[in-house]
Amino acid sequence: MTAADAVRTAVAAVTDPELRRPIGDLDMVREITVTDGLAQVGIVLTIVGCPAAARIESDVRAAAASVEGVRDVAVDVGVMTPAERKALTEKLRDGRPPRQMPFGPDSLTRVILVSSGKGGVGKSTVTANLAAALAAQGLSVGLVDADVHGFSIPGLLGIPAGTQPTRIDDLMLPPVAHGVKTISIGMFLRDGEAVVAWRGPMLHRTVQQFLTDVFFGDLDILLIDMPPGTGDIAISIGQLLPHAEVLVVTTPQAAASDVAIRSGLVARQTGQRVIGVIENMAAFALPDGTVIDLFGSGGGAAVAAALSETEQVPLLASIPLSPALRAGGDEGVPIVLGDTSDAAAAAIRELATTLATQGRRLAGRSLPMTLG
Ligand SMILES: Nc1ncnc2c1ncn2[C@@H]1O[C@H](COP(=O)(O)OP(=O)(O)OP(=O)(O)O)[C@@H](O)[C@H]1O
Ligand SMILES: [Mg+2]
Repeated sequence: MTAADAVRTAVAAVTDPELRRPIGDLDMVREITVTDGLAQVGIVLTIVGCPAAARIESDVRAAAASVEGVRDVAVDVGVMTPAERKALTEKLRDGRPPRQMPFGPDSLTRVILVSSGKGGVGKSTVTANLAAALAAQGLSVGLVDADVHGFSIPGLLGIPAGTQPTRIDDLMLPPVAHGVKTISIGMFLRDGEAVVAWRGPMLHRTVQQFLTDVFFGDLDILLIDMPPGTGDIAISIGQLLPHAEVLVVTTPQAAASDVAIRSGLVARQTGQRVIGVIENMAAFALPDGTVIDLFGSGGGAAVAAALSETEQVPLLASIPLSPALRAGGDEGVPIVLGDTSDAAAAAIRELATTLATQGRRLAGRSLPMTLG
């Protein structure tokens, strides 16, 4: 192997931080020469001013410098031609035509909606923490913030305001926070802009674009943070993802459980399957042992029982009220990643383990066949 070949091998293995694949596989490596210990490395990026450019360049430099006999490295960074970019997006789509939703019945990704009838029961907080916990367990996780009017996921995951997905032509690369590939309408709005006037078709188109034009790559799990209620977005998602699984979030309060049951039943009407109930804001214990059950008790079990008439729906988790969980949300640092003593964090981590080990429901899906 020549020195240039050795440099090429090292450079090709550098991963693109956004596409999460080796740049060699992405056809980003160009001419490489090594003369008198000086390695000259040509690479091309997808677009001018690609946000990951500095990182890729320094990783390429380090990779080339690590090769024996290389004393100095010069990196020449160019930009792909439109034809090269088109070839790349086709490769990333893996044969799927543009604008086709990759999360259909044959997809290997589990799609899990987190919904509730009532607002403010902690859907988004639970979804953000669950996503981070699943990613921390090594799963490839995507998160779609389907709450177009009241988006909160970017804040909960600490994605700085103004962060936008990188675009490669009509493909959007979702920002990654705490290992979670995340997309939210909040990434497309200018400061203070609102979507109050949006109605059904516009909402439908937005959610559909999140599912078709965002490049999530191969995901184990795609979580969808639903808006409260059973309005336009829930109906759109029911149509787009009839194979999705649903987690119903409720508080221990009886008043919250009635609407939660309804949201589970509505999801079922579209063909989705309710896989469990999550009780949030449950009783918590003070350090002296006093138990505070602000919202009463029994709501989670009641919802699970009511939804179990046709098939068993378990109460998968009971997450106590936790100031630390709330504070972590405000700071954009999911508490599941930090505080090991917090009971809410422990409950969500356990929920993540349950879901991760449960495996995907295959009944009713046609499996891709491998022949030979
Ligand atoms: N277990 C908990 N302990 C303490 N605070 C919590 C808990 N769960 C959620 N919260 C807080 O309750 C508020 C509502 O939570 P969140 O926004 O996650 O609810 P939501 O169901 O997504 O609301 P919406 O229906 O508006 O989308 C937030 O301030 C959050 O920090
Ligand atoms: Mg929410």
